[in-house]
Amino acid sequence: MSNILVLNGPNLGRLGSREPDVYGDQNLPVLLGLLELEAPEGTTIDLRQTNDEAELIGWLYEAVDTSTPVILNPAAFTHYSYALRDAAALVTKAGLVLIEVHISNPHSREEFRHTSVISGIASGVIAGFGFESYLLALSAIVRMGR
Ligand code: DQA
Repeated sequence: MSNILVLNGPNLGRLGSREPDVYGDQNLPVLLGLLELEAPEGTTIDLRQTNDEAELIGWLYEAVDTSTPVILNPAAFTHYSYALRDAAALVTKAGLVLIEVHISNPHSREEFRHTSVISGIASGVIAGFGFESYLLALSAIVRMGR
């Protein structure tokens, strides 16, 4: 049995009602259902969301300690959290896959969203495909056998 952590940062708990023109009208339980449908048998999807930077960092430590690959939507932390970057670097430096995902394409939005402090230490980045960004990340992890 393998596990994949799908970690979501601030305000993503409001998906469904938050700026549906940007993020769509589906919420995190729907995302979990889609990921579970795509996950190979024996793979569990552990989807979590927090508005708390410290909690998100703790979950990244957990990924390291349990050798679990991570799909991470850091949300607004993407653009400024060096603390989150350093914690995410622990994951990839441990040889684990960490894929940064975004629902929207931050590069087509406001200038402050054009910078990610996470991308430089991520295994890869997928952005702009709605919930499909997560499904593509899952597919990459499965295809790479990680
Ligand atoms: C986001 C993009 C970020 O700029 C924003 O702060 C979010 C969501 C996305 O998934 O498109 O909260 O990470």
